Amino acid sequence: MFARRTDWPLEPNALTREIGSRRARGLPVIDLTESNPTRCGFDYDSRAILQALSKPAALDYAPDPHGLPEARRAVAAYYEERGVCVEPNQIFLTASTSEAYAYLFRLLADPGDSVLAPQPSYPLFDFLAGLNDLEVVTYPLVYGSEWHMNVDALTLSVERANRALGIPRAVIVVHPNNPTGSFVKADESAALAELCRRHELAIIADEVFSDYALESKSRFSHTACDSVLTFTLNGLSKISALPQMKLAWIVVNGPNDERRQAIGRLEIIADTYLSVSTPVASAARELLATRNTVQPQLRARLRQNLEELDRRLAVPGSRAVRLRVEGGWYAILRLGAGPPANDDDLCTILARDDGVLVHPGHFYGFEAEGHLVLSLLPVPVTFAEGIEKVLTRLGSMS
Ligand SMILES: Cc1ncc(COP(=O)(O)O)c(C=O)c1O
Repeated sequence: MFARRTDWPLEPNALTREIGSRRARGLPVIDLTESNPTRCGFDYDSRAILQALSKPAALDYAPDPHGLPEARRAVAAYYEERGVCVEPNQIFLTASTSEAYAYLFRLLADPGDSVLAPQPSYPLFDFLAGLNDLEVVTYPLVYGSEWHMNVDALTLSVERANRALGIPRAVIVVHPNNPTGSFVKADESAALAELCRRHELAIIADEVFSDYALESKSRFSHTACDSVLTFTLNGLSKISALPQMKLAWIVVNGPNDERRQAIGRLEIIADTYLSVSTPVASAARELLATRNTVQPQLRARLRQNLEELDRRLAVPGSRAVRLRVEGGWYAILRLGAGPPANDDDLCTILARDDGVLVHPGHFYGFEAEGHLVLSLLPVPVTFAEGIEKVLTRLGSMS
């Protein structure tokens, strides 16, 4: 009766069962995976947000496949502040970056084709690609003293996909990546562009965390890339920490002819759905402006929790180190050898015996055991209490 693409295992895993059971018994859970900013105690400019949603413009319906022109001008102004000139005609509004991925996969690839995605990275790629009948071919991010994209390994992945899987159509980069927090470096970006030109691949650059750089180096945006067909994704979900508003966008750039063709075809895809709601689109300028109140709070929170983590890790005999974080909302703990042998078991023990929820690395595609992924958004006292429990448990098992 159902499509094979929906043949997912539907039973909850052991970790989900443990957390569900604790919650059902009314026991507390310290959630170190919490990445919903509306649940992390930030002080939003509620008046500005609610006023923006009650404009008379919300009562008018003027469908446009690109999305409301006023909203696109606000998005263009956001990029102008970053020194990038984007024309409103290069922008398509969508309800989420997930929807943006779906549009791009429909634009670029036929069933059975493939897209390249970093590993470790955002767990939703498998679902987004699978729902569009595409294969994900991973390429590794490697950690030395920081994370790097290995363009030689990416080239091998493209060649492997070409030989054995569906035709590769696009390379996804996440800048900075979730959960590694790593930005694409300038030399990697140049090599990536060269590879994409050679193999006729588009670039899909997910920049949702780009405003959350934790180091002061200047960072580029892929929106400026005009030598390869490039689609840059971003939205209010992270920029203004407003995931409930459901407003994201695609910026199209690249060589003239390819860019024109992509825009023409995307107009038809977007016109088929017209999914962005007018009240939210007409509030876009004000909702974007609220980033100025919320982003400083988020950056302070990310720094405070990172410092707390480092303080607690800096004890003699600690079994864990944290990997370098250049930006984004997550930190990764790398664990030294010791029981239990796999991260799933450790996370299940932490949930059952300590009431702490953390994600095992494999959830994000880490191949080696010994990695835990933590959100840096929780309220500091909660974060500190959770980290204390994780490190105490690790210590007791050495
Ligand atoms: C890399 C990445 N892209 C996109 C998203 C989701 O964005 P949206 O809420 O716009 O779908 C997330 C959510 O955590 C993410 O980690």
